Amino acid sequence: MTQELTSPSPAPQAPGTGRGPGWWRDAVIYQVYVRSFADSDGDGIGDLRGARERLPYLKDLGVDAVWLTPFYASPQADGGYDVADYRAVDPLFGTLQDADELIRAAHDLGLRVIVDIVPNHTSDRHPWFQDPELARQRYLFRPGKGESGELPPNDWESVFGGPAWTRTDRGDWYLHLFAPEQPDLNWDNPEVHAEFEAIMRFWLDLGVDGFRVDVAHGMIKAPGLPDIGHGAQAQLIGAQMLPFFDQDGVHAIHRAWRRLLDGYGDARGKQVIGVAEAWAPTAERLALYVRPDELHQAFNFQFLNAPWQSDALRSVIDASLAATASVGAPTTWVLSNHDVVRHTTRLGGSLARARAATLLMLALPGSAYLYQGEELGLPEVTDLPDEVRQDPAFFRGGRATGAVGPGTDTESAPDGAAAGGQDGFRDGCRVPLPWSGELPPYGFGPGGSWLPQPADWGGLTVAAQTGDPASTLELYRAALELRRRLPGLGDGPMSWAPAPDGVLAFTRPGLLCTVNTLGHDVGLPAPGTPLLSSAPVTVDDATAQLPGDSCTWWAI
Ligand code: BGC
Repeated sequence: MTQELTSPSPAPQAPGTGRGPGWWRDAVIYQVYVRSFADSDGDGIGDLRGARERLPYLKDLGVDAVWLTPFYASPQADGGYDVADYRAVDPLFGTLQDADELIRAAHDLGLRVIVDIVPNHTSDRHPWFQDPELARQRYLFRPGKGESGELPPNDWESVFGGPAWTRTDRGDWYLHLFAPEQPDLNWDNPEVHAEFEAIMRFWLDLGVDGFRVDVAHGMIKAPGLPDIGHGAQAQLIGAQMLPFFDQDGVHAIHRAWRRLLDGYGDARGKQVIGVAEAWAPTAERLALYVRPDELHQAFNFQFLNAPWQSDALRSVIDASLAATASVGAPTTWVLSNHDVVRHTTRLGGSLARARAATLLMLALPGSAYLYQGEELGLPEVTDLPDEVRQDPAFFRGGRATGAVGPGTDTESAPDGAAAGGQDGFRDGCRVPLPWSGELPPYGFGPGGSWLPQPADWGGLTVAAQTGDPASTLELYRAALELRRRLPGLGDGPMSWAPAPDGVLAFTRPGLLCTVNTLGHDVGLPAPGTPLLSSAPVTVDDATAQLPGDSCTWWAI
C-alpha cells in the first residue's frame, strides 16, 4: 500500500512533557525582533503592546519562551543595541508599564520571557559617557599614536567597518568594537560590574526569566590592547582568537552572573537563565561559556553556518554535542536571527531545505531558538533600496556582525539561485512580519512599516498559511506539538543510524529522523511509520522514498 504524508499523523500521547530538570535544557525559544513584529500605534515600528497582543499566536505556535530584542531607551544607532538607559523603555516601543504587562501576559499564557542585556558597550548618549570624568574611568580611552596622537592607539577594526577607535575633541581616543555611537565599557572597573548586576536585578524584579547576553565574548580585551597585524578582522571573528573577543577573562563575569541568577531564582523557586551570544572559534571554546557555573546556553553558530551537506552537518552536530556534553550542558541550536541571512535564502534560496533544516534542528537533543518569520518561510529581502537601509554596517562599509564564516551556501545553491542577502547587511532579515491581507503592511499595524515589505508576501501571511497543511506555518506548529508530546524529543540521547550517502539518519528514543540533503529522491527501507515530514514522503510496501532536500520524523 502507498502512504503519502504531507501533514502530521496523530502521535501517541506521552505522559508528562519529557522535560528534564531545567526548563531551558530543551526549550524552544522564539526571538521577537520588537520593531518588526507587530505595531500597535501605527507609526510603522513594532512595539511592546503589539507584541503583547500577538502572544496568543506564539502560544498557539507551541513555543516555550520568548526572547525580546532591546526595547530600552536608545538613539537607535544600532537597532537599540546602543542603550542610553537600561532601566527605561524607549518611547518608540512603549512604556515600562507596557513591558510589565507584556511579561505578565506571557506568564499567564505559560510563556517565559527573556530580554537582551548589552554589557560590552553603551550608547554614546548614556549619562556615563556624557560625563567626561566618569567616561574616562568607565570606558576604554587611550592616547593616540604618532607625533601628536593623531593615529589610533592600535590597528583594531570595528565589526561594522573602519577603525575601532574614534578621537574625541579632547584629543584622546575611545574604543568601539561596533559603531562610534557604541563605546566599549571598561570591565576592569568594579562600578561597571555593580551596575550590570543592578540592571539584571531590575529586570528580574519585573519578572523576566533570563537574559540573552549580547556580545558575551567581548567585555574583556587582551592586556595592553595589542595590534593584530592585518586587516579584514571582521572576517576572522569566530574563526580565530582575536585580542578583543573570546578572551579567558570574560568567564569570571559569567560566573558572577550565574551566581546572581541562581541566587535570585532559588529565592523565588524559579530558574532564570543566561544565554550567551558568543562567537568562539571552536565548539570547545564555545562550551566554556556553558560550564556548570557559567551561563545556561550559548547559541551554536557553527551549526547555523554549516553548509547543506550531510558530512558537514554530521560533523558539526557531533562536535557540538561532544563539546557541550563534556561540560554537562545541552546544545542550543539556531538557524536564523536578526544578524544573519534568513535560512531560506542562506541555504541556497530553497524553502525545501529550510523546512528540512528546521525539522532536523528540532529533532536534535537540546534547546532551539526560532527567529520571527522563519515559521512563515520568509526569505531574506534582497532588493531594499539604499535609502531605506538602517544597518550601521551599511554606512561604514563593513559586514553584519553575525555574517561571519561561510554565511551563505552559494556553492550548493540549486539552479544557481541567489543565496546571499543584500551584500551581507542586516536589514533584509528585519523586514516587518506579514500577518494578514493581500497588501503591505499585511496587518503589521495600522500604519506602514519601517522597512518596505515585498509586494508578493500576500501568500506568506499568518492568515494565509493558517489551516493549510502544506504551509510552513503548519509544519512548525505540528513539529512543536510533537516535540511537546513525544518524550523522545528534546533533551536526551541520540545515535546515528546507517544511511546512504547524502542522507543522515539518527535515532532518538522511540523515533528516527532522516534528512536527505541531496536534490533528488532517495529510496531506503522504511524505518518506521512517518510522523511528520517537511515534504511529501511515500512509503510503498516496505520502501520509503525520501524527497530531495527533506527531513522526516519516523515512529519506530
Ligand atoms: C547583536 C547585533 C548588534 C551587536 C552590537 C550583536 O550581537 O545581535 O544586532 O549589532 O551585537 O551590539
